[in-house]
Parts: sequence; structure tokens; C-alpha cells
Amino acid sequence: MRCLAPCPTRSQRDRPVDSPPMARAARGFRCRECGWATPAYVGRCAQCQAWNTLDQFTETQRSGPARSAGVVVPGRTVRLADVPDEPGRRLSTEIPEFDRVLGGGLVPGSLVLVGGDPGIGKSTLMLQAAARLAQRGTVVAYVCGEESPRQVRLRATRLGVGEAPVTLIPESSLDAALAAAEGAGASVVIIDSIQSVYVEGLDTRSGGPAQLSEAGARLVAFSKTNEITTIVTGHVTKSGEIAGPRLLEHLVDAVLYFENAEGGSVRVLRAIKNRFGATDEVGVFEMTGEGLQSVENPSSALLESHDADASGCAVTAVIEGSRPLALEVQALAVPTNLASPRRIASGLETSRLHLLLAVLARRGGVNTGAMDVVASVSGGMRLRDTGADLAILAALASAASDQPLPRATACLGEVALSGAVRPVHQVQRRLAELSRVGFKRCLVPNGTPAVDGIVLIPVRNVRDALQSLHR
Ligand code: TYD
Ligand code: MG
Repeated sequence: MRCLAPCPTRSQRDRPVDSPPMARAARGFRCRECGWATPAYVGRCAQCQAWNTLDQFTETQRSGPARSAGVVVPGRTVRLADVPDEPGRRLSTEIPEFDRVLGGGLVPGSLVLVGGDPGIGKSTLMLQAAARLAQRGTVVAYVCGEESPRQVRLRATRLGVGEAPVTLIPESSLDAALAAAEGAGASVVIIDSIQSVYVEGLDTRSGGPAQLSEAGARLVAFSKTNEITTIVTGHVTKSGEIAGPRLLEHLVDAVLYFENAEGGSVRVLRAIKNRFGATDEVGVFEMTGEGLQSVENPSSALLESHDADASGCAVTAVIEGSRPLALEVQALAVPTNLASPRRIASGLETSRLHLLLAVLARRGGVNTGAMDVVASVSGGMRLRDTGADLAILAALASAASDQPLPRATACLGEVALSGAVRPVHQVQRRLAELSRVGFKRCLVPNGTPAVDGIVLIPVRNVRDALQSLHR
């Protein structure tokens, strides 16, 4: 038989065959934001430019015994055609909006990361999903590294699922927790949160980059080897990324972020990566006294408080994931004596507000230079879709003149610096959604094909649009 072991290299030949595995201690400083490492302390990270984020670390790395002896054990091979080609049955969490973001439920053996600000509702959603899965016969283990079992029980009782047969694992050692979950025969494991568990043997604080990347690697191995679906939660840092940015994202199968702008009760769960479903899919939830409720008809919920007779309110439709959502942009403009008037934006980028105010002044003749301007989006949604530009502009113009916009009239269109109103993608679906929630007319970019049930008002530029919006 042919020897599968490669010929020893010169350095291997020189070393005695039965020499013990080499232990090597690495010391240095690592940035807790981005994971950049350096042997000597510096005040500012050379990679992410953050100040005072370097922590000291010591890591012991062992070279593998097989390699040091010059023997490589060949890995497993599988013929592509022999791999079963059915995708595996998805497990429904019975939470419609969570299933939607996952791409139709949990895929067996997948690893999912759920991120979001502290207090946004990660633990609440996890407990609700755990309870529903357990009530339908799935063995679920919930690693509560962050809270005591009593706290979890109190929350479960509040959510009406106190009696659900969920196995709690109050453990902060990751290996011990995973072994306990495996021992309990779990087919779904929830780890709440990744920052609260640690990997033994690493001399760094839990939640740090070294811990997170090692924990991530172990979780991948755990979920794939045992075909156990694993969901981990993670807090985001101030800059909005999961602590130890991007360290876990490339390891896991799906990354879901919870988001909401300050104040709103609507929570949006957005898939920013999904190996088993559409990226950018969103689930819409509302935080209530009984936990997170899936919002069946998000457009109606987002327009619930729409007041057609108030100035500064404009309605548009955006595409979120695979569906259109109608929402309201609100603006307020008041005269100010400040030398540099205030610009406050919630749910949209301040830079976008500045840009649209500049277009409004130059191309529309509406000057807000002596006014404080506040703009926000209904329900705490965050606007990314540039198709909402025209609605933001209409809301700003209406706020500046304190004149309400015409009733039942929505706006669709991207606004260029030249003041031109540009086409938006999936305009037909947006118009159908606006019509469904009761809008009769809509300002649209010139050349938009007609849709049943809604009258289109084509506009070429910002000036056209402002004229059409006079009540
Ligand atoms: P939580 O799930 O603990 O957030 P995270 O795990 O993301 O840090 O959410 C806590 C918030 O949700 C807290 O402000 C209280 C609120 N909440 C409700 O409004 N209703 C409920 O039924 C529950 C359980 C929490
Ligand atoms: Mg929590």
C-alpha cells in the first residue's frame, strides 16, 4: 500500500520523532474593537484608529502532535453525488416574522448570530422561540450566561411560557455549556449571549476578540458535527457592530441584526447574511407587555398614527427585504436665532437630511437656513432606501411652510443633486402597497407605468413636485 504520510522536511528530520508537542506562548496587545494585535503597547489602534482599546493578552499555542511527528492523518473525503440532496426539514419557530427572516425556519445544524443594542429584545425573542419550539416537542437548551435561572423564569412567566419544557444551562464556560446541551439531547441550543461565555485556557477577558474568535470556531464545529442548530446573541458596540466586529460574522451561517430608532416600539430584525435565505429580509415586531409580537401588516402599523392634516408629514413606500412597506416621514421646522441651526435626524442619516435640505433650497427655492429642522421616520424604522428621498423632501417643504400635504397622496422618487426626480426600483409593488393601505394618488418619477387603483402624478424635478403638492 502507498504510504500516505508526506516525506519529512529537513527540520522535521533533524528533530527527534517522539519529541513532545511544542508549546509557544504569544504575548502582546490586542484591540478589543477590531482584533488587531501588536507586540508593544500603543495608545491608538493602527487598524481601526480607536483610542485606548488595546488589552494585554497571553496565548499558549500548541503545535499538533501528529504534525510534529511528521505524520498527517488524512481527512475524510465524500463523493458529491453521495451527499443527500434534500435540504433538510426546516424547523419552524412558530414566530412568523422570525421564520421569515431565517428564510422559512431554522435549518438543522446551522449557526445563527442575532445582534442588537442592549435592551432591544434579543433575550425576549430567544426565550419566546425556545418556549414555542420546546412546547412542540423539540429539545431546546438555553444557555443563560447573562441572567440567573430565576430571572429567566420570571421573564418566561411574564411572557406566558413559564411552564415550557426548556432546559436552562446557567454556565459561563462554553465547553461545559455545550457538553451539557449535548448531554441533554438538545437539537436546538441558544447561547445568550456570546459575550457572557468564555473559552477556558485563553488568558483574555470574555467578550474580547481572542475569546470571540475561538468561541466562534468551537460553535461552528459543535453545530456542524452534531447537527445541532445553534443560535447565539451578541451585543453591538457603540459603532453599531457586534463587539469584536466581523469576527463572528464570517463564521456563522446567518447574521440577523435587531434595529430600531430611539423611541419606537417597532423592532426590525434584518438578515445581513444568510446562507439559507435572502439577505436583507426583514421581520417586523412590536415590543408589548407580553413580549415581541410579530406584526402581520407592518404598513398599517407604521401608518397607525399618520395625521393627514398635520404639516411636515409625507408617506412613501420602501422595499425592505422581499416586501414593500408604507411608512411616514415626519419633519418639523421652526425659526431659530442660532448661528448654526440644528439638524436632528432619527431613522435617517443626518448627512442625507443636510443634502436634501440643500437640494430643497437651491432647486426648490425653500430656504431653511434660519430654522431648526428635525426629521424622523414612523415607528422607529431606519430609512436606507433612496426611493424615499422625494417623501423626505416633501415633508421638509411642508414643515418649512407649515402647510399640510394633500390628503391620501404619497411620494416616490430618488432625488438627484440637480433636483431631478429619478426612478425607483420595484415601483409597481410600492404603488400596489400604497393603494392597499388607502392612498389614492402618488407623485412618481416621469415615465412610471400606470397601476390600477392609484392615480399617478408624474414629476420631472423638485420644482414640479412642490407645485403638485400645493393643497
Ligand atoms: P431584552 O430581551 O432583555 O433585551 P436584550 O436581550 O436585547 O438586551 O429586552 C428587554 C427590554 O424589553 C426591556 O426594556 C423590557 C422590555 N420588555 C417588554 O417591554 N415586554 C416584555 O414582555 C419583556 C420580556 C421585555
Ligand atoms: Mg439579553
